Amino acid sequence: MKTILITGGAGFIGSHVVRLFVNKYPNYKIVNLDKLTYAGNLANLSDVEDKPNYEFVKADIVDSGKILSLFREYRFDGVIHLAAESHVDRSIANPTEFVFTNVIGTVNLLNAALDVWKGNTEEKLFYHISTDEVYGSLGKEGMFTESTKYDPHSPYSASKASSDHFVRAYCDTFGLPTLVSNCSNNYGSFQFPEKLIPLFINNIRYNKALPVYGKGENIRDWLWVEDHARAIDVIFHQGKVGETYNIGGHNEWTNIDLIQLMCKILDRRLGRKEGASAELITYVKDRAGHDLRYAIDSSKLQKELGWVPSLQFEEGLEKTIDWYLENESWMLNVTSGDYQLYYEEQYQKR
Ligand code: NAD
Ligand code: TYD
Repeated sequence: MKTILITGGAGFIGSHVVRLFVNKYPNYKIVNLDKLTYAGNLANLSDVEDKPNYEFVKADIVDSGKILSLFREYRFDGVIHLAAESHVDRSIANPTEFVFTNVIGTVNLLNAALDVWKGNTEEKLFYHISTDEVYGSLGKEGMFTESTKYDPHSPYSASKASSDHFVRAYCDTFGLPTLVSNCSNNYGSFQFPEKLIPLFINNIRYNKALPVYGKGENIRDWLWVEDHARAIDVIFHQGKVGETYNIGGHNEWTNIDLIQLMCKILDRRLGRKEGASAELITYVKDRAGHDLRYAIDSSKLQKELGWVPSLQFEEGLEKTIDWYLENESWMLNVTSGDYQLYYEEQYQKR
């Protein structure tokens, strides 16, 4: 039986990865390590928490002593590292937290893996989950490939770029078997409503203003989170050590077109007259250092490992909207703590 550590498993993407692995691999013991920050929520995993091959450990990856002792205790065979501070606007408000978790936390995990795997790296793997934001911003043409030069602009993407470099450096310098994947924007169930799609679904539902940054012309390449989790499964099992894989759905949308589509679907779902929700659109001050366009070329992953996205975006967006409408208690639960304070601080000044 293999023991696999998944960090950040109580967050948005991590919870989908944990669910997939726990259900698909009964012969793996899945240990979900999470600090349970505002973004981590064990309710995201209520359907797997009683499975015999699942265990939750509350820990902070910045605590190097604790991380090392957990590695020595569990002797993990593989690591899928998702724990991170993940929101660009929070990184602008408080960059230091991103250095601690994303950079130092990642180095602590690498050091612990090196400690317990030294001399025996056979069948071991440290798989680091990263973002396309490390590549910076595109103009109208072109796509990010695995060889695009890193050019991060936000404190979030700078911290993720730094962690990616450390992961590759531990492979090159110490022979630690590592892999990195860089994925485009994810959407789907269990995403914390600070990110565009769940935030706007919630605001439309409660007739609150929709704060569009700048002119709404920025472009993001959206991928359904369960397709990302499937890609992580494929890369973890078939990816080549030392390699990088880009993950994306060839699905670019300007923010304003995406917001108009959400308004249209929600008008129908909420029984409003056509155009009613779009009246909530409010243009606000742009995000500082706002990247214009992201677009991922995932042909390497498609050709070499045979992964393809499973869902058309319109279908995925409708499913996602329905999930948030049907799971109001989840939304009320995650927005009950410091969320109101966060919301006021972020949006009052815009
Ligand atoms: P999230 O913010 O929803 O979840 C992050 C999780 O990490 C939370 O459960 C949180 O409690 C945990 N965590 C934070 N700090 C920690 C610490 N110090 N110790 C232990 N646990 C800690 O993030 P997400 O959107 O699920 O992203 C997961 C990973 O995927 C991140 O590494 C992110 O950079 C990457 N990624 C995200 C996207 C996206 O669109 N959301 C796209 C590409 C890559
Ligand atoms: P976000 O979901 O924060 O993801 P990222 O910045 O990591 O791509 O934002 C997606 C896009 O939506 C981005 O261009 C910023 C924009 N946006 C708004 O216009 N208003 C908002 O309130 C938020 C949160 C984002």
